[in-house]
Formats: sequence, C-alpha cells, structure tokens
Amino acid sequence: MKSIVIYDSYTENTKNIAKVIAKTLGCELSHINNIKKYKIEKYDLIVLGTPVHAAMPSKKIKKFLKEKRIKKSYALFCTYGAYLIGKISANNCLNYMKKRINAKYIGKFKCPGFHHILKTYKERPNKKDLKNAEKFAQSLKRNIK
Ligand SMILES: Cc1cc2nc3c(=O)[nH]c(=O)nc-3n(C[C@H](O)[C@H](O)[C@H](O)COP(=O)(O)O)c2cc1C
Repeated sequence: MKSIVIYDSYTENTKNIAKVIAKTLGCELSHINNIKKYKIEKYDLIVLGTPVHAAMPSKKIKKFLKEKRIKKSYALFCTYGAYLIGKISANNCLNYMKKRINAKYIGKFKCPGFHHILKTYKERPNKKDLKNAEKFAQSLKRNIK
C-alpha cells in the first residue's frame, strides 16, 4: 500500500501534525510546493492537510483540489487558530475539501494551532495533539484495509 501525506503550512503547525501522521503511517511526506516529483494519482492513500484560512483551505490546497488528482482513498486534516469559531471554521474547511474530492473518504482530524496574529492557542499543537494525530493515523491504517 502506497500512502503520502501532503500538506500546506505557513507557521509549521500543520507541518508538525503532518510529520506525525507520515511517521505513524511509515509513508512519504511532502509540502504542497514539492509534489511535482510524485505521481500522486498512483497512491492508494493521500492524507491531505491544511491550515484553516478564513474558514477555508489555503489557496495552494484549493488549487490542488481543482486538479482532481486524488483517485483512490483519502483522509483530511487541518489546524485552526481562532477561539469559539475555530472548530466551526475547521469543519467548514474540511467539508469544502470533502465536497471536491471524488474518491474513497476514510477519515478526518483537526486540532488547534497557535495563531500568530491573534496569539490564541499558545504552544499548540501540544504533545496531546500530536498523540491524537498519531491515533488518527493508526485509525487510517485500520480503515484502509
Ligand atoms: C490569513 C489567516 C487566516 C486564518 N483564518 C482562520 C480561520 O478562519 N479560522 C481559524 O480558526 N483560524 C484561522 N487562522 C489560524 C490558522 O488556521 C492556525 O493558526 C493554523 O494552525 C496555522 O497553521 P500553519 O502553522 O500550518 O500555517 C488563520 C490564519 C491566517 C494566517
């Protein structure tokens, strides 16, 4: 089974989650900027991650979704930084992504990430968030079978 974790990240929150997921799955990890060298269509599982920007995925992830390159199975994750509306905007972001992918969906994960403008969720993702990301990746291993 070939898997890859593809992510976008500006202040490393989503990157840190992506790293744990890739390590747990024992698979490749690529920033969205570097995916040219991969034959994305061939992967059995693509785990796609984004920071939440205005309740949506980042611009680069939106562009990637337009290319319709996810053909087999996929899972989604995001990090969000706003208090109160954070979870809602994260759900909106994940739903937006799900609606644009025509492949087998096997799971999603979200957690807070320090917002460098609002200064909310200091030191997140923390150890517990990373542990939850690991559990999420383990659940993907079971779901893909
Ligand atoms: C331009 C911009 C827009 C954002 N919009 C939202 C938002 O709508 N909802 C939210 O909860 N957090 C929002 N955030 C906070 C980020 O989603 C959050 O801090 C995230 O963990 C950043 O991930 P990164 O370090 O991987 O870039 C925004 C951050 C930026 C810079």
